[in-house]
Amino acid sequence: MKVLGIESSCDETAAAVVADGHILLGNVVASSMDLQAQYGGVVPEIAARSHIEAINGVVDRALTEAGCGWDDIDAIAVTYGAGLGGSLLIGVLAARTLAIVHDKPLYAINHVEAHVYANFLTRTTLPGYILPDTQPVFPMLALIVSGGHSQLVLFRGHFDYTLLGQTHDDAIGEAFDKVAKILGLPYPGGPSVERRAKEGNPYAYDLPKAKLTHISPALAALRGQTSPAHGYDFSFSGLKTAVLRLAQAITGHDHSFPSKNLPEALSEAQKSDLAATFNRIATETVVDKTVLAYDEFRPASVVIAGGVAASPELRQQLKDRLPAPIAYTDPKLCTDNGAMVAALGCFHVKNGSQPINPYRMPIKPNLSM
Ligand code: KG4
Ligand code: ZN
Repeated sequence: MKVLGIESSCDETAAAVVADGHILLGNVVASSMDLQAQYGGVVPEIAARSHIEAINGVVDRALTEAGCGWDDIDAIAVTYGAGLGGSLLIGVLAARTLAIVHDKPLYAINHVEAHVYANFLTRTTLPGYILPDTQPVFPMLALIVSGGHSQLVLFRGHFDYTLLGQTHDDAIGEAFDKVAKILGLPYPGGPSVERRAKEGNPYAYDLPKAKLTHISPALAALRGQTSPAHGYDFSFSGLKTAVLRLAQAITGHDHSFPSKNLPEALSEAQKSDLAATFNRIATETVVDKTVLAYDEFRPASVVIAGGVAASPELRQQLKDRLPAPIAYTDPKLCTDNGAMVAALGCFHVKNGSQPINPYRMPIKPNLSM
């Protein structure tokens, strides 16, 4: 069974073909990141226009790479939320059109859920990927860390999960992107902070970790009577502001000093130390909660997903602190791609999920898990 997956929720136009939920046959990602980098972040109009230009070619290349004609494709899966409205529209319109023209069942995919399913890919015919040997098993704890989301989710099975906690403000990837701006490092912030952090001292400064005690009704219901006092929510906006205040203070300025002038005021060594300290603390924030959730729920497997899951610091901290080893997917499959969408699409087909009417398919920019 082969599924074509289409992804366009942010600035990547992506398509992939996955067989049986675990074999990656074709995977093409075109990004408007270079255009976006000139503006220091994603400009929705530029992203949408780039999707229009790229989408047909990307789908064709994914099919060619997979050695598939339309007769070989059993279903189409497409991200319909969460994401930027204009960006989602292009992928969804393309998928609807292809489903109608080629008479294929169409599945609506939740982008955040799809990130988790990148971890279900265990084989590929493509060069240059390092994949886990086996698929994760349930119950599965998923740490989802991207530019738009920071969540801990406990999966009992496919499509059967509880959201243990999530961010109250910025996502962790967003915090990386904003701190990169403060330090004058290029977009996207995750990789550039990571690179810079290698040159700095991760213990150079003190930065605060948010301590949230909120417990969601879903978590309370899952726990029943025996409730530990802690929850699994995150907050990153305070940490980002702490970096800003620290950068102002160490350059001899007060809080009114404009952040756009900080890259010039900071020395190269200060930038490296700030990057390294932020990288350590932001990562510890999510690792602390993952370890607590592991201790409470004793899952059979743990996966990490989303763009920040590409981070070597995150992978190292989890290796050092979790009692069980994690099988990581290739970093290329952590950032947005069509393979994760196609993989989840395969499980919709296997599960007997209802395909969506291609004539009436909506987009849902604010979709949550
Ligand atoms: O999953 P993704 O591609 O898009 C969203 O769904 O948001 O994640 C993008 C985010 C960006 O914030 C980027 O800075 C971050 O992932 N990111 C990283 C790394 N690579 C990408 N963060 C930390 N370390 C990395 N190596
Ligand atoms: Zn994403």
